[in-house]
Amino acid sequence: MTITIRAGSVLRQCMSASVLLALVLAAAAPCQAQANSGFAPAGWDAGVKLREAVDKNPDPAILEIDLVAKLAEVEVSPGLKVKAWTYDGGLPGPLIRAKVGNRVIVHFTNELREPTTVHWHGVRVPIEMDGVPNISQPEVKTGETFTYDFVVRDPGLFWYHPHVMSAAQVGFGLYGALQVDDPSDGVGIADELTLVLSDIGFDKRGDLESAESGGPAGQVFGREGQYVLVNGRQKPAIKARAGAWQRWRIVNTAKSRFFLLDMDGQPFTTIGTDGGLQEHPTEAGTVLITAGERLDVLVRPTGKPGSSLIVRAMLYNRGYGSVEYRDVEDLLTIEFSGEPPMKAQPAPKVARQITPPSTEGATRVPVMLTLPPAGPDGRSEFRVNGVPYWQAKPFMARLGETQIWTITNDTEWDHPFHLHGYYFLPLDEHDQPIHPLGWKDTLNIPMKTTAKFIVVFDERPGEWMFHCHILDHAEGGLMGTIAVGDVTPTEHAHGKRSGG
Ligand code: C2O
Ligand code: CU
Repeated sequence: MTITIRAGSVLRQCMSASVLLALVLAAAAPCQAQANSGFAPAGWDAGVKLREAVDKNPDPAILEIDLVAKLAEVEVSPGLKVKAWTYDGGLPGPLIRAKVGNRVIVHFTNELREPTTVHWHGVRVPIEMDGVPNISQPEVKTGETFTYDFVVRDPGLFWYHPHVMSAAQVGFGLYGALQVDDPSDGVGIADELTLVLSDIGFDKRGDLESAESGGPAGQVFGREGQYVLVNGRQKPAIKARAGAWQRWRIVNTAKSRFFLLDMDGQPFTTIGTDGGLQEHPTEAGTVLITAGERLDVLVRPTGKPGSSLIVRAMLYNRGYGSVEYRDVEDLLTIEFSGEPPMKAQPAPKVARQITPPSTEGATRVPVMLTLPPAGPDGRSEFRVNGVPYWQAKPFMARLGETQIWTITNDTEWDHPFHLHGYYFLPLDEHDQPIHPLGWKDTLNIPMKTTAKFIVVFDERPGEWMFHCHILDHAEGGLMGTIAVGDVTPTEHAHGKRSGG
């Protein structure tokens, strides 16, 4: 006997349904939140389907995979090929899909000609698994392997990318999504997509654009590739039944580009952010997803049967050059089937209780981001509290310490500020948490503004990085570390510009 429950408050319905069932059958079958079987036409997502990493381990609690970084030629649209740096030969890398609480083991091999590492962006890993060279592990050199092994404690969409010359390596194609599902999240929408947004630059021969293109000005801007990709493809299409709910898990893996999504004005219902579901849904006509961030959104694309709808990236001003002479970009086409549109149904009520940490006794950490005028060599250095990364001393925190960071962006550029290892909650200027509450690990600080967040360094001692996720900015100096607990901080002044 199967009970199919349509989108709605699935959990509640499921519970009452199973209570009924238990009464009738006098059997106590455990309730599984059962999603609807989906309304989209068969094969609807073939144009964007991500390859999934293959689990070699029969234990359902362990996801064990191989991952190889190597050069490969990939086709981003028919006939348009690029010699990219890839994970497992694909762009993006394979979708690593785990369940909350799983142990994830990744046997990583570097077949590139350069050293690399893998950083698990947004995952609360131990410091040894964080992928930062010299702090977490030595660089993985050509031909070497490294095994990453950690438990995914939080549901949500995360991603993985190198932390060695990351502006170059991410820009060349090294990124992939790590999705941690929570079967009891109560969202109950079966038509679900994981969307990896990125861009890549290459020439007619398929050779990658240099990571130095545009020189110092390119670095200050934050280089963007001319081809905008959704799951490694240029303007792919999905099929849909008009008016049916879909859930999109979106990550922006571009090294600099922001995506301001628009669906011809049709609303996006945001239910989650970097660290899983948020307190309650919010609805908006467009959603902004800055470099490194994630969004969990519900959409109900609708239109005439047989027509199509385009998801676009609108212009967003993240600094000079991001809107001047720029065009809106088409990202994804939604082709409606011939079936009549579904009647409007309310979005499922997705809620999560989040208790903000107490601000009492929190240590105040002022952070000032500046960009002094370029030196005689034309180079510019981003600075954090007056110094670029290579001259910075680590910030400090005691284990268990609560800190409130006040970040003032005194530059003419936006900076998506990313902290490794911990989630934080944004606060308003009166130290009140901003609703809906949602755990963040990457927060955009718009140009000439101040933002605040609260973070509790309550576990996993180690030296953790923070940096702008416009990776050219990070390598231009906008990086730092915080030494949590009783650890010996590393020396940043190793004369090397890189390290990100
Ligand atoms: Cu995705 Cu150090 O970052
Ligand atoms: Cu920045």
